[in-house]
Amino acid sequence: MNIQDIITAVEAEMKAQFEGEGSGHDWEHIARVRRNAVMLAETEGADVDVAALGALLHDIADHKFHNHSLEEGPVQAAGAVRRHGGDESLAQRIAGIVAEVSYKGAGVATPVSSLEAAAVQDADRLDAMGAIGIARAFAYGGSKGRPLYVPGNGPNLHADFDSYARDEGATVNHFYEKLLLLKDRMHTNSGRKLAEERHRFMELYLKLFFAEWEGNTGD
Ligand code: ADP
Ligand code: NI
Repeated sequence: MNIQDIITAVEAEMKAQFEGEGSGHDWEHIARVRRNAVMLAETEGADVDVAALGALLHDIADHKFHNHSLEEGPVQAAGAVRRHGGDESLAQRIAGIVAEVSYKGAGVATPVSSLEAAAVQDADRLDAMGAIGIARAFAYGGSKGRPLYVPGNGPNLHADFDSYARDEGATVNHFYEKLLLLKDRMHTNSGRKLAEERHRFMELYLKLFFAEWEGNTGD
């Protein structure tokens, strides 16, 4: 089976499965990650089709919905490639990308072993930053019934995946536990440039957030 046909079939399947999902893992997140992964793959000289397919499948079995297991995503992604007629080498390449995509806590390194995985990981993280990243963080926190912010309840720089995944702190903590750390963990140069812009916007956002919290309306 030609990779273009696999991409078309997987796209339709993922769209049907994730359309209308409201916790930040909707189809539009997957579509944005795909667009940015393709753009980064082009500028980095990676295989654009492999990056597109990896992006389409990167959230197929997110750990947050699978009892925090990181095993399920790569297995299901490889299964989807095989089911649509992809060969074993493509299934393994895609499983490798999906295995390397997740953020696992401030103290846990997340290296990549291919240019395609670099493009997909950077694209996924860009979507957790900036204006959209802010919206997704509060949408996710709201879906879990978490407060926006609890003064005096500081962030936790998790040293391992388990404590990161099980954290139930206020959503503003998530900025310090993940979102503001992402720009220094980009793998591609073009991703890093976009991340720097989105980072500055989040810093400004937080400055205003805390000023308004204290009742300072800026005049
Ligand atoms: P990604 O899709 O970038 O891999 P995740 O799967 O970790 O990100 O999470 C999906 C979205 O929900 C992201 O925008 C992420 O920052 C956000 N999110 C994850 N955990 C939390 C949390 N504890 N509080 C607020 N937002 C969160
Ligand atoms: Ni994602």
